[in-house]
Amino acid sequence: MLRVGVCVSGGGTNLQAIIDRVQDGTLANVSLEVVVSNNRKAYALERARQNGIPAVALPPKDFESREEFHQAFLELLDSYKLDLIVLAGFLVILPPQMFPKYKNRVINIHPSLIPSFCGTGYYGLKVHEAALARGVKVTGATVHFVDEGTDSGPILLQKAVEVRPDDTPESLQRRVMEEAEWILLPRAIELIAAGRVQVKDGKAYIREEDK
Ligand code: GAR
Repeated sequence: MLRVGVCVSGGGTNLQAIIDRVQDGTLANVSLEVVVSNNRKAYALERARQNGIPAVALPPKDFESREEFHQAFLELLDSYKLDLIVLAGFLVILPPQMFPKYKNRVINIHPSLIPSFCGTGYYGLKVHEAALARGVKVTGATVHFVDEGTDSGPILLQKAVEVRPDDTPESLQRRVMEEAEWILLPRAIELIAAGRVQVKDGKAYIREEDK
């Protein structure tokens, strides 16, 4: 069993996609141990509760300093003895001391084709606003391993999505989720659970399925 923790900040549609794949048996070797949010009001926490997954809110403002928040966040994750941490719309920079301990054990979904429209300040709807402002004809989503940088770790999966002339940031966000994110993130977990992913020299490689 791959013990997975999911970190969320908002609605949790990516979390829901993972829950759905656990429930339909696609992620048969995965157990969702905990969902953690910096935002007490995140609907993602409600999704976790509805599905019997421990849901924990850890708002940074409840702590006197960033260091204390980081320590509590790490202690919480450590206590669940996780094999993999999935950032599914988690809009908090991870504590630097998570690395190297969790090196190649944290993945993130980003709503563009990295290295386009990523890094500091590019999150959520802002990513799609920037893609439309630049006039790209294709965008998409990326699952990557998380390192000390922002959106800079080894790329595991990417999927392209067409931009339409009449797209708004909202319509593009929705299509990127439907056509890319909700497929890629569970798939990444499935590949990791199957032991098919290897990271070497800053790149992720996927081994062919055993015949
Ligand atoms: C998703 O589009 C995800 O890719 C994005 O936040 C959204 C969360 O939606 N993440 C980032 O922008 C990270 N840089 P959700 O809460 O419905 O899964």
